[in-house]
Order: sequence, then C-alpha cells, then structure tokens
Amino acid sequence: MPSDRDETPAQPTISEVAAEAGVGRATAARTLGGYGYVSAELRERVLAAADRLGYRANALARSVSTGVSHTLGVILADIGNPFFAGVMRGISDTSRARGFDTIVLSTYEDLEEEVAAVNVLIDKRVDGVIIASTAVGRGEVAHIQAALDRGIPVVLVDRAVASLDLDAVVIDNRDAARGAVETLIEAGHRRIGFVWGPPAAQVPATRRELLAEASRNLWTDGERLRGYLDALDDARIPFDPELVMVGRKTEDRVTREVARMLALPDRTTALFCTETEAVTGALRALRAAGLAYPRDVALIGFDDSAWAAVMDPPLTMIEQPVHRLGAKAAEVLLDTIGGAEPARTMHTLRSRLVVRSSVAPPPGS
Ligand code: RIB
Repeated sequence: MPSDRDETPAQPTISEVAAEAGVGRATAARTLGGYGYVSAELRERVLAAADRLGYRANALARSVSTGVSHTLGVILADIGNPFFAGVMRGISDTSRARGFDTIVLSTYEDLEEEVAAVNVLIDKRVDGVIIASTAVGRGEVAHIQAALDRGIPVVLVDRAVASLDLDAVVIDNRDAARGAVETLIEAGHRRIGFVWGPPAAQVPATRRELLAEASRNLWTDGERLRGYLDALDDARIPFDPELVMVGRKTEDRVTREVARMLALPDRTTALFCTETEAVTGALRALRAAGLAYPRDVALIGFDDSAWAAVMDPPLTMIEQPVHRLGAKAAEVLLDTIGGAEPARTMHTLRSRLVVRSSVAPPPGS
C-alpha cells in the first residue's frame, strides 16, 4: 500500500553535499551559490559530490544570497504578435549566449498588467528589465521608477517614453513612415489614408491638435503619424482629418474606418497602415467594398512578415529588424549589468521598405 508520503527523494542539502565532498559547508555554499573564492580542486570535489547526490541549486535562494540571479525580465505588449515574437528571439539568443535566462511577461498594451509585470520581476530578483512599455505620460511610469530605485537597470525596446531618461532601442519610425507615404505620392496618390493613429475619441480638426493627441499616446504611433504628415507637407498635399483613423486599435474598427474612407465623395485611393492588424482590417474593407489592391487602392503596411510576401499580389511592407532590436536591447542591458555606465540614449536601427506589388497609380490616372 503506497504511503501517502511524497515518494520523491528529498533534495540533498548543502551540508550533505559538503560532507560528501569532504569540505566545509561554507566552501560548498560558495561553490554551489556561485559567489566568493573556491580553489579549482575544491570546486571540482564539490560539484562532483553535488552531481552524485543529484543536488539542484535553488536559484531563488542563490539570488538572495548573492544578489545576482543571472536572469533578465522581459515585458512585451503582445507575445502573440509576430513583431514581438521576433524581438524576443533576439533578446533570448543574446541573453543565453552571455549566460542569462529570461522571464517573459505580456501586457496586451494594458498599463495595469504592465505594473503587475514589473512587480513580478522585482519579486523574482531579476538583474535587469527590457520593456516595450505602454506607459506614455509622466504619471504612468512610477512602476518603472520603482525598479530603477531598487537598482534594477531598465532598457526600453520598440518605443521610447518621453518622461524616462533611459536607453531605448527603437527604429526610425518617422523616416520609415515618411518614405512609405512618399512612395504612394510618387505613384500619383494625394488622397492617402492613415491607419491607425492615436486612440482619440475623434479625429482632431487640425494637425496641431492631432499631433498633440499623438504625443499623449504610444511613441511609435506618434512617430509614424509625424512621418505621414511630413510626406504630405513635402508634397504640399493638404491634411484632411477625414483620411486619418484614430480610436481603439482593433481590426474591426480599422475595417469600419477604411470603409468610411472608401465611401467618401473624394475617396481615398491609397492606404498607409501602421501595423499588422491595420493591414488586415484594411484588406477586409477592400474586399467588402468589392475593390482590389492595387488596381483600385494602393496599400503599404508596417511590419513585414511571411504572409505579406505570399499575398496575391504580394504586399509592399516596411520591415523592422526585429531580431536585431531584441539583441541590441539585451546587449545594452547586459553591458549595464556588467558595470558599464548607461548611455541613456536612443539607439535607432534602420527599417527597410520591401517593395512588392501593392502600389499602382490611382485608378483612371
Ligand atoms: O504591435 C506591433 C507594432 O507595434 C509594431 O509595429 C511595433 O513597432 C509596435 O510598436
């Protein structure tokens, strides 16, 4: 009759490993805890004894005793999004190569989730944090400041936060957006829709008000909007608020907003979509209206991916160096953990416009 006692063997203690190795407990503790000095000969004896007994270091206990966990915390907006998955691969590859584990948490662009995630990482005693923060205003960064106050270095990835003087690894969002819209203008378009902007309740009437709204929201959204407006200005195309989608960023809302732009008397003939769900929502709207790209509406999107290349016709997209973004963020953080003085600067990587077949001149031109 098996006893109800847990049959799994108890974890051998440090004292048992020390006895097995014939060394003092302090020597075994230093060896197994990864701190302090131990001669090569004694280290070898302790590790061999630990192996014979099946000892597994208690990582959390070790981090308490040494203050080092060899673990990075990573907080991303949506690990289900291919963009963030690519960034995470870069972080993970670089961290592992330098002997660090990673703990990943997803916030789904929810500030409360982000605050909770930072607190989890503080409790887990991570050595540093990489975060694609959804925080925007000065009043929204207390959780990040709490980590910094505990001596936990933080590096921003993908989006800067104006009120935080930290290293940020980002791309040239504004230049990338301007280049994409210039491509549409060079093809002859003047009625260019911007999908999607800041989550304002309605599109402000003037560009100044629109930019003020943008500065209160995600840095990437604001930079891409600025690039769109730059390209219109350079071509002396007047800003038309009817051609800008703002509000909750969902694919369904994109579909409704693009349908609205397509139904305008002087309808849009080209769309600049600032991320994946903006592209897919726009494609749904075109199909519902019985329109085809690029014959009826030209289209350029942000965040290139395998599916964009196999669409028929293939989509012209802005490609972000996602793996490099993550790797660079990890390098900057690990250098800081290793003692380097934080540069507290914007590390801007270049994106690339992948020209395929979704841009053509306006119909009838
Ligand atoms: O949701 C992913 C998108 O938003 C990417 O374009 C990335 O830059 C992020 O800001």
